[in-house]
Amino acid sequence: MKKVLVLFAHPKYEKSRANQVLINAIAKKEGVTFHDLYEIYPDFHIDVDAEKKLLEAHDVIIWHHPMYWYSCPPLLKQWIDMVLEFNWAYGPKGKALQDKLCLNAITTGGSKELYCSQGSNSYTINEFLRPFEQTANLCLMKYQKPFAVMGTYKLTNEELDGYGAAYNALIDSLQQF
Ligand SMILES: Cc1cc2nc3c(=O)[nH]c(=O)nc-3n(C[C@H](O)[C@H](O)[C@H](O)COP(=O)(O)O)c2cc1C
Repeated sequence: MKKVLVLFAHPKYEKSRANQVLINAIAKKEGVTFHDLYEIYPDFHIDVDAEKKLLEAHDVIIWHHPMYWYSCPPLLKQWIDMVLEFNWAYGPKGKALQDKLCLNAITTGGSKELYCSQGSNSYTINEFLRPFEQTANLCLMKYQKPFAVMGTYKLTNEELDGYGAAYNALIDSLQQF
């Protein structure tokens, strides 16, 4: 069974609705390491060596976060900037992450209809996530399509529970990939 690392970044998890449901559905699963970046690094001082060891010990890397201004919250960007070092994650000798699976698990306030060329957000969620996709590509990882929960404000509790079950099932399939 593949080992899954969920790198979670939510600056206001105590006020979260959608992500609390998603996290509750997967955090205690066998073979899943739930790694809450804002809990561990409230001062943004990331322990790069510890993060690299964690990455090396897992096969599937999930960047899990709410969409903030069409991107991720700042601590996840800081994590990417600090941890994915030249000649470790990328560059001529940078093969540490080669062939690991990688994807975004993302929640958006805006609904799916707004995320298209005719909608007010102009672009699809996959287009907004291209910097993550290319980061994974540069690091020789195999980027998978995102798990997206969209229009969070309008979702009922039952719908959110359904997304929690879908996230759990996706992780099952990634563990067997
Ligand atoms: C600072 C900030 C920026 C946000 N930017 C976006 C955005 O660019 N697009 C969007 O659809 N929703 C945006 N949202 C809404 C969040 O994505 C949404 O509240 C979150 O995904 C819901 O998950 P939660 O209940 O776990 O907090 C933003 C929210 C905040 C607080």
